[in-house]
Order: sequence, then structure tokens, then C-alpha cells
Amino acid sequence: MKIPQLQIGSLTAKVPIVQGAMGVRVSLSSLASAVSNEGGIGTIASVGLGDVEASKTEYERMSREALASEIRKAKSLTTGPLAVNVMGVLSNADDLIGTMVREGIKMIVAGASLPLKLPGQADDPSVNLVPIVSSGRAAGLVLRAWDKRYGRTADGIILEGPLAGGHLGFSLEQLERIEDYSLQRLLAEVLKAVKASEDKYGKKIPVIAGGGIFTGKDIAEMLLAGASGVQMATRFVGTIECDVAPEFKQAYLSATKEDIVIIKSPVGLPGRAIRNNFIKEVEKRGKLAIRCPYRCLSTCDVLNAKYCIAQALVNACIGNVDHGLIFCGENAYRVNKIVTVKELMAELVAEVEAY
Ligand SMILES: Cc1cc2nc3c(=O)[nH]c(=O)nc-3n(C[C@H](O)[C@H](O)[C@H](O)COP(=O)(O)O)c2cc1C
Repeated sequence: MKIPQLQIGSLTAKVPIVQGAMGVRVSLSSLASAVSNEGGIGTIASVGLGDVEASKTEYERMSREALASEIRKAKSLTTGPLAVNVMGVLSNADDLIGTMVREGIKMIVAGASLPLKLPGQADDPSVNLVPIVSSGRAAGLVLRAWDKRYGRTADGIILEGPLAGGHLGFSLEQLERIEDYSLQRLLAEVLKAVKASEDKYGKKIPVIAGGGIFTGKDIAEMLLAGASGVQMATRFVGTIECDVAPEFKQAYLSATKEDIVIIKSPVGLPGRAIRNNFIKEVEKRGKLAIRCPYRCLSTCDVLNAKYCIAQALVNACIGNVDHGLIFCGENAYRVNKIVTVKELMAELVAEVEAY
């Protein structure tokens, strides 16, 4: 198959691979710029960049400054397309989006709740807006809301299926019937749902499918099914440039299929992670102590939460994995070596071309 370019509004990627955002601090400027230099779109995750023990104003300031610094670093390392991801449930989402726009980011990806207000928050027509959805219904809802309130449509849509890593847009009940939600099937739904908006605005809305994409064959199959590109995250943890600590990468290398489990995260959504000592400790003790000077998530029920997810994710990213939550995709057990982003992208492109 001839590898197609991916066009998202004003941005062109030579390779139709979007590196999915990985918070907390797993995908920052190093990984995002490396992917972008190899022709894909690199994504910086904006969640959890402040010190979780800081006060509210301090946390927001630290997050803003750290995000600005990561964007500047990434831009100094690549001239290729870069995106920044924001989670709608963050209490400083407005502040982070403002920072992305000011720092000249031209693609904002929003997930973990439907980003119904995103065009109002990122009020600059030169910024390409890309919502993350998990169903055709959600895609339709976002597009109709944007049309009605802001008279605009999306520049792309990321469809995240149930095999993805991190927080998932599926209920625990749906995840028990995972075979009913194949990426192919969801893709067909989303392609149908974007049609009305494509016709009204006279432009193509590229759909980028992710969740369990591992090889060039997987990519080629998604492209043939109508996707304009794919989003991949788990595989990029197995790269030298991935910003996370070596202990986190090692946890992927050591994981078996059985170690990968669904958890109920304090965010209020299910998530996928490696069942490590931290998860076993939470299972045993029921609840860990939480100190929460600043409510980083609008949906977190601090009094009843089993642990502080921000602290658990920070612990994981700095290598304190026994006290950390290690998010991963369903295929993390298939990551068996650490390579450069250049090697990984070349392997994927060759596999697509050989398809
Ligand atoms: C460690 C990790 C952290 C993640 N963090 C985020 C995040 O902060 N925001 C988000 O929208 N998606 C997040 N995701 C989801 C990915 O961006 C991506 O859509 C998904 O994992 C793709 O599936 P794959 O990992 O099987 O390739 C995360 C995934 C992983 C593995």
C-alpha cells in the first residue's frame, strides 16, 4: 500500500500516524518532537505538569510554565506538526488551552469528557481542533454542538476504541463485551456520523482511529476501512525518546498479557493499567491516604477516592513504579524492546508499504 499523507486542517503529516498523548509526563517534548521529525504528529500531554502538593495558584502557575516550556523545547527540536492534548476534566483546562494558543500550537486534541466548549476556549481560527470520541453518537453530539454554538466544525476526529491505554470512554459493562466494540465497527459509525458536518462545511473531516494499533498491518487495515490515519501510544513507550523513566518502560517489557487489567480510576472512568504492586496494595487496603491541596480534576471525589491519581501517575513517571499507576494499552505486553522513534516509524512505514 502506498502510504498516504494525513491532512488535519492546515497541518500536513507525511506519515498518517499521530502519537497519542500520554499523561502524566510520559509524552512531552522529547517524544513529540521525535515523532514529528519522522513525519508523524507528535503530541504533548498537558496533564499533571505542576507539583501535586502545591497550592491551587501555585499548581496552575507551575502547569502553565511547564507546558509553555515543553512546547518551546519541542518547537526548537522540530519544524514538523505538533499537537497538545488537554483533558476536559482538568480544573485548569481553560488556562492550559490559553497557554497552547499563546505558544502557537496549531492542533489541540481534547478528550476525557466531550469537549463541547473547545471552540470557545481556543478562540483562534488558525488552531485546528480535534475532539476524541469513542462512538459515532459522541462524534455527532460534538459536531452538532460546535455547529450550533460556534458555527464551526472539527478539523479531525480521533476515535479511541476500547483497547486503548489510560482512561477509556467505555463503561465497565461495555468493556466486558469488548468484542461488540471493534475499532472497525466504531470507525464505520464515526465515518457515518461526520458525513452531515462534512457536507455542510464542504470539507473532509479526517477520522484517526486508535486503541490497540500495533503493527503496520493494523495501520493499513484501518486506512483501508476509511480512517485517514491512526493514533498510537503504547508502542511509543518502547522508545528511547519517550519522556518517562526507564523503570516505567521496563514495566512494559516485563508485563504479560494477564498483567494488563481494567481499573476504576478516581477520575470516574475505567482505565487500563499494569497490575503492579501499587494496584495490589490498593486492592488490599481499599483506600490510600490522600493529601489534596489542589483539586486538579473537577470529577474527583477526593473524600471517597481510593488514592490520588495525580500522585500515583507522577510516581510512575519518575520511576517510583511500586507506588505508581502504570497506564498502558491492551497490547503493552507485546512491547519487547526499546528502539529509537526513527527505527519504530521506519518499521511501521515499511510494514504499511509491504501490505
Ligand atoms: C501511558 C498512557 C497515558 C495516556 N494518557 C492520555 C492522556 O493524558 N490523554 C489522552 O487523551 N489519552 C491518553 N492516553 C491514550 C492514548 O493517547 C491513545 O489514544 C491510546 O492509548 C491508543 O491506544 P494504544 O496505546 O493501544 O496505541 C494514554 C495512553 C497511555 C498508554
